[in-house]
Amino acid sequence: MNKTILCIGAGYVGGPTMAVIADNCPDYKVIVVDINADRIAAWQSDKLPIYEPGLDEVVKRARGRNLFFSTDVFGGIKEADIIFVSVHTPTKTFGAGAGKAANLQYWEKTARDIVEHADRDKIVIEKSTLPVRTAEAMHRILQSNDKGLNFEVISNPEFMAEGTAVDDLQNPDRVLIGAMETSSGQKALQAIVDIYKNWVPEEKIKTTNVWSSELSKLVSNAMLAQRISSVNSISALCEKTDANIVEVSGAMGLDSRIGPKFLNASVGFGGSCFKKDILNLVYLCEFYGLPEVASYWEQVVLMNEYQERRFVQKIVDRMFNTVAGKKIALFGFAFKANTGDTRESPAIYISKLLLEEQGQLAIHDPEALDNAAIDLKDVEGDYTFEEDPYEAAKGAHAIAILTEWKHFCDLDFERLYHSMQKPAFIFDGRNILDHKRLHKIGFNVYPLGQKALSHLEK
Ligand code: NAD
Ligand code: UDX
Repeated sequence: MNKTILCIGAGYVGGPTMAVIADNCPDYKVIVVDINADRIAAWQSDKLPIYEPGLDEVVKRARGRNLFFSTDVFGGIKEADIIFVSVHTPTKTFGAGAGKAANLQYWEKTARDIVEHADRDKIVIEKSTLPVRTAEAMHRILQSNDKGLNFEVISNPEFMAEGTAVDDLQNPDRVLIGAMETSSGQKALQAIVDIYKNWVPEEKIKTTNVWSSELSKLVSNAMLAQRISSVNSISALCEKTDANIVEVSGAMGLDSRIGPKFLNASVGFGGSCFKKDILNLVYLCEFYGLPEVASYWEQVVLMNEYQERRFVQKIVDRMFNTVAGKKIALFGFAFKANTGDTRESPAIYISKLLLEEQGQLAIHDPEALDNAAIDLKDVEGDYTFEEDPYEAAKGAHAIAILTEWKHFCDLDFERLYHSMQKPAFIFDGRNILDHKRLHKIGFNVYPLGQKALSHLEK
């Protein structure tokens, strides 16, 4: 074996990232550790703790060969030459910066574990998304050791998206690696470049100073989320003017400076990253005395919340100003298709608002029902979870599409229509269905940012 890589944190990022590294770098031993024993047991089993297309195959190829999952964090620290830290960095819920700043307690704990258990020099890599200048604090904690050890801190943020994690990791747009501009920093940087060189073309491996790398990650997420909030804001204007958001996005996207991706109007962006990272950026701008910059970025989150509320308001308005006692089938609970992850999913907020209106919810999702049950466990109201979309829609007044699962388009809508209460409504919060066909079947159809196709209103 060439070197031993350790990853602390076997979550959505640590697990897939290390599996792809191990798969492509058979000369490295890769150990993934976590304090969550259930999660590690799942990584060792046939039912992995997260659903990602293609992940099972990658894990099966490398596991037991040069990829290992373990709860022995301290043993891993001792053994490793290179340590990726991939623990979660959620929004702080207490004290200074509550609601915006990143909670760095999990991250700091790993730094202290490394100091305590390392017995030789190591390279420590920030894989988690962290506020700019965190490497400075990390370096200080690590260098505070009294064993005379040297630690190099590298920033190597992860850009994979859930649902396409394996493909994104296998064929990344870029790999970003930031290091201190010292000779030991540059040597450490080269050690990390050497790992990625095994499968990523060199022109896609971008090296920068450590602060640029940290900040680029936050800003990349903010820019992506800003595109969605921009389009979602215009979807509201389209509904007032009979312009069509799909046509407007299509026309904008043809400009090569804008590009076609990430312009789909939706019920709002979710996921564990966008909101948290923008709020972190807002906090940093406030911290550095830049209130105008902070409020500019905060609008992206506020517009997202508006879009979620607007969707619920439309449902209530169109269903004769009340959903009390009416069954509504929610199709999709995951924050996007091809994942079972529901963190910050718009479906959570939308469900709560509909339950406050005393709607009866039948929630269907092909991968996310377990997580949905956890998300709603303390929420009062009338809701059930349905594996079968036809059961969910039986006797319902409305179907609301919240996640863009492809197979929703292939459902038998005649059958769904005939099993529902009349008038039957469809609110397509992802603009994925064939609206004209649904209207012909008899549905009253409310897409996003497009003219409604209703039998009730002219
Ligand atoms: P996660 O919550 O799925 O996983 C984090 C894991 O770290 C958990 O399993 C937890 O038990 C473990 N952990 C916490 N403290 C530990 C400790 N002291 N020792 C060992 N294990 C510990 O989080 P995630 O989604 O994988 O995100 C990790 C980081 O990557 C975050 O900073 C996130 O912003 C960033 N990120 C996430 C994504 C994504 O798509 N989820 C993409 C890019 C970047
Ligand atoms: C995001 C970033 O894309 C990724 O680079 C980063 O590493 C982690 O955060 P992720 O949150 O997994 O990835 O998914 P993403 O595809 O970005 O979607 C985020 C949200 O935006 C989802 O709720 C999705 O449905 C929504 N979205 C996306 C839209 O509403 N419209 C779009 O056009 C695209």
